[in-house]
Amino acid sequence: MEILHVTAECYPVAKAGGLGDVAGALPKYQVQLGHIAKLVMPMYRTKFLFQNEFDVVHKGAFNMGPMWFNYTIIKEQTSKLGFDLYLVDINGLLDREQVYGYNDDAERFTAFQIAVVDWVAKWEHKPDVVHVHDYHAGLVPFMMQNCYAYRHLAAIPTVLTIHNAQYQGWMGWDKSSYLPAYDSWQWGKLDWKDSINPLASAVKCAHRVTTVSYSYLEEMRQEANGLEKLFQYEQGKCTGILNGIDDKVWDPAVDTYIDTNYSLKDIDKGKLASKKVLCDEFNLDIEKPLFVFIGRLVGEKAADLLPRAIYDSVYHLEGKMCFLVLGSGDPQVEWELSNLNMPLAGYYNSKIGYNEKLSHQMYAGADFLLMPSRVEPCGLNQMYAMRYGTIPIVRNTGGLKDTVVDIGETGGYGIKFNDAKVWDITYSIHRAMELYADKPKIKGIKKKLMQIDNSWETSAQHYIDLYQSLQ
Ligand code: ADP
Ligand code: GLC
Repeated sequence: MEILHVTAECYPVAKAGGLGDVAGALPKYQVQLGHIAKLVMPMYRTKFLFQNEFDVVHKGAFNMGPMWFNYTIIKEQTSKLGFDLYLVDINGLLDREQVYGYNDDAERFTAFQIAVVDWVAKWEHKPDVVHVHDYHAGLVPFMMQNCYAYRHLAAIPTVLTIHNAQYQGWMGWDKSSYLPAYDSWQWGKLDWKDSINPLASAVKCAHRVTTVSYSYLEEMRQEANGLEKLFQYEQGKCTGILNGIDDKVWDPAVDTYIDTNYSLKDIDKGKLASKKVLCDEFNLDIEKPLFVFIGRLVGEKAADLLPRAIYDSVYHLEGKMCFLVLGSGDPQVEWELSNLNMPLAGYYNSKIGYNEKLSHQMYAGADFLLMPSRVEPCGLNQMYAMRYGTIPIVRNTGGLKDTVVDIGETGGYGIKFNDAKVWDITYSIHRAMELYADKPKIKGIKKKLMQIDNSWETSAQHYIDLYQSLQ
């Protein structure tokens, strides 16, 4: 089959979170299964762009409301990611350093999607499926089916994967003229609660919808940032397919980001070496269990609970552990976390920002990884942690619920709690401390974690089965 993925992120080209990791891995595994997988994304001004060679494969132009844009599609020459990578260059709009966070993101992603559809419309053959990811690509199914210029694409099956329904790309109806001329009787397929909602539109128009874990799909029928009723109504075409991890990139035996590689046979030595790097750099005590948090400092991740939970744990458990936090996001949370550096020096430290290398060192060097998420569609961090022999402490929600088994259950290897509350986090840290004291048990669990297979093989095949059901 020939699959075209449409996405805003893809590791290592540009990554803001887990979407980038998934988009960088899934097509590669689909190619390994014998299919043609292509991926198209905006051409941002990232290192990858300057370090690689590209060919121009198409040039076109379109108007978006009163604006006129020329676009160029470039293709990375060697398919070094394991699949064909195409970038959409729109001067002045997409060629910026960051993926998100600009005032004109609505214009940027709408223009990106128009360019993609316009380009596909010019192909001599057609892909067997167009697979769109999140709201940034959510208008693509609507445009393929309802814009007069592109209606010859209407029969191509489309699949939407929802990585995060919190962000929906809402646009006022005053921006409806941005879309290429469409059958206005179909306006309802763009609308949700009186605005243009690209994510809702994709749920309505895509032939099939997937979420990145089973539990998240169930949860969205109850709570989906305003889209609950839509998920209840469309449940017939929705299915959960759990993410995998790229176990070639995330492998402590070959990971070039960590100083000392290790595998199952030298796990203790390897993890200790990485822990030492962290403890030296962040002034932490290597003798104590190390708890880390890595991620976006936002409400979804319950990052606002961390300062209190960390402070209380250090205070009540007499500083018998250490904490290290890496992340960026809400300025208030960043401020609170940074402010703890001084009073909790020796027990705690934080690094505000995005740092791929440090994140790998932390997965390798930590004893426990904290993920108290309020919402977690899948979560990759817990799976990375496990691959590096680090015990996940997670809230029982979404993908965390589906991938972690509590040590209280038969064969368990993680710690789970139910409520996104400070007390639940501190209690779980307490449980972790007890586990840490039981050396033979913790050693067994770390070894077990490293052997859990969360790789993409199975899930990549599930997507193929889904596409095939649409042919
Ligand atoms: P989400 O996509 O919701 O942010 P995931 O768990 O799916 O959450 O994926 C997060 C990805 O982003 C992981 O690869 C994680 O290591 C990475 N990440 C998040 N924050 C940072 C950071 N500050 N520095 C480095 N990597 C980060
Ligand atoms: C989103 C979700 C995260 C998921 C990732 C990849 O960003 O928040 O839970 O793992 O996408 O699907």
